[in-house]
Amino acid sequence: MLIRVPAPHEPLSSEITSRSDYLNRRQAMAGLGLVAASPWALAQGPAAPGGGKLPKLAATRSTLAGAVVLDKPTAYGDATSYNNFYEFSTDKSEPAAMAHTLKTRPWTVMVEGECAKPGRYDIDALLKLAPMEERIYRLRCVEGWSMVIPWVGYSLAELIKRAEPTSKAKYVQFTTLADKSQMPGLRSGVLDWPYDEGLRIDEAMHPLTLLAFGMYGEVLPNQNGAPLRLVVPWKYGFKSAKSLVKIRFVEKQPLSSWEQAAPQEYGFYSNVNPNVPHPRWSQASERRIGEDGLFSKKRPTLMFNGYEPQVGQLYAGMDLKKYY
Ligand code: MTE
Repeated sequence: MLIRVPAPHEPLSSEITSRSDYLNRRQAMAGLGLVAASPWALAQGPAAPGGGKLPKLAATRSTLAGAVVLDKPTAYGDATSYNNFYEFSTDKSEPAAMAHTLKTRPWTVMVEGECAKPGRYDIDALLKLAPMEERIYRLRCVEGWSMVIPWVGYSLAELIKRAEPTSKAKYVQFTTLADKSQMPGLRSGVLDWPYDEGLRIDEAMHPLTLLAFGMYGEVLPNQNGAPLRLVVPWKYGFKSAKSLVKIRFVEKQPLSSWEQAAPQEYGFYSNVNPNVPHPRWSQASERRIGEDGLFSKKRPTLMFNGYEPQVGQLYAGMDLKKYY
């Protein structure tokens, strides 16, 4: 299991060498014969610099168990140019060029439903609500590919606690922006917009469930779900809804957009599970984006995407083939 608590001396994405410095240093070291020994030892920090175009987002490295994986982070260019954001396009290469039409200021998030303290939160208030942490999570898409992303944000539980959910709040429903004037993909009928997702309240309260505002030490690029998104690292990527506008506490299990579109393919839980195949894709292995070289192999998919020690007990006694 490649999970660790980071040592305090390790750099954050925001502190690490720029891409060109990294490449120059690597070339210099190669000249001295120093590179071959351990590519990951060299790549660990500097392989994932931010793009340098977006405002920085200060954070401290998370010390939460499981919040920082050892896997080599995906290159920034890959993580920001290979996107699923159907409100813009179903073609993964297009959101990067199209999502500039998304207006991320002003932005408000409604917190409502079964809670004692509902609220209307401005994005700037949310940015200050709790200390920002950098968390390096695996992201596993149901389509069979994966990435490793250094996110910046804080546990969703920080916001939920302030809302004081009532005893009737068994689930949390997440709704994302659906504005045709900003999002051309909404004209397609691929989903019943807006993009809705849901979690059980204990899943939403789990400390690994992240409200992310940034990645690679910078604010989120629009195509990655600016100005804030959910990141649930042990579930397939579609549960990590982008560009959130509403968080609602509900008593009954909410219907997510993907479940509504194809219930036989996408269940409510959608925990990463190599033993439960999707009707169209085996989930036993995955292709790590950026490892597409001639000799790269698919890697085995880990139960709960490798977060079983942290989240396995949430599903104790459940038939995971039935509750897929
Ligand atoms: N959120 C919204 N609003 N719309 C989407 O199309 N796609 C989901 C998820 N969140 C999606 C979304 C899917 S299928 C995946 S795999 C991840 O976002 C991709 O996130 P990324 O583009 O940052 O890698």
